[in-house]
Amino acid sequence: MIATKSLLLPTAKPETAMQSHPEIPRHIAIIMDGNGRWAKERGLPRLEGHRAGAESVREVMEACITLGVDYLTLYAFSSENWNRPETEVKALMGLLDRFLKEKAKDLDERNVRLLAIGQLDRLPKKTRDLLEKIQARTANYTRMTLVLALSYGSREEIVSAARSLATDAVSGRISPEEIDCKLFASRLHTADIPDPDLLVRTSGEMRVSNFLLWQISYAEMVILKKFWPEFRQADLFESVKEYQRRHRRFGAL
Ligand code: FPP
Repeated sequence: MIATKSLLLPTAKPETAMQSHPEIPRHIAIIMDGNGRWAKERGLPRLEGHRAGAESVREVMEACITLGVDYLTLYAFSSENWNRPETEVKALMGLLDRFLKEKAKDLDERNVRLLAIGQLDRLPKKTRDLLEKIQARTANYTRMTLVLALSYGSREEIVSAARSLATDAVSGRISPEEIDCKLFASRLHTADIPDPDLLVRTSGEMRVSNFLLWQISYAEMVILKKFWPEFRQADLFESVKEYQRRHRRFGAL
């Protein structure tokens, strides 16, 4: 039994993405770190850490649905992760494919929309096809949006937004004076997604690792010591409790 008791929970379970309780973060983003170290500590191959990490993904999704979180973004594969040994990259793609196949029906049943952000054209065709199919099928689901950041790097995302605005300015479609935060944000991969309220990172590292650099400007950060494969629903509830204790000021008093 998971203790959600002392959490400030919504009085009624939200049926649509529009009805969230203000005390529940509308958007939670997670840097899932420590799969390799978890495996190493147990004398297991790194792949076993990633496998166990996929279980934690299932846990965190359940917890977010229970709380009525509208958006859950998971940093599943960074643009830098392509530099890992080919066997590890292949294994991660295999795990992702398996997760997508297994989860597809679940997303239907739970009214959860899937979105993928990142340089998706770098992914294997099989993975891209699966993502496209599931994204199209779940496009109108409203209970929660699961955003998978895949082959994602925030600097690249920002540069590509700047390039697209520069192209429009040079061709006269916009004037440089029109460029403001709102227009800039509309050119990011996350254009239609609200900024994260809460950023969780596991394994104790105090870094943001090229993840949603623009979007986390005012996110509350919670860093947990435990490795990602150890992350359970109770850890998400604890992180939200910590978030609820914070006083968000957005730069004001
Ligand atoms: C970080 O651990 C984790 C990753 C690079 C990949 C995350 C992947 C999963 C959780 C599994 C598959 C994903 C889905 C969506 C099903 P690390 O390898 O950097 O760990 P280390 O820092 O201890 O070496």
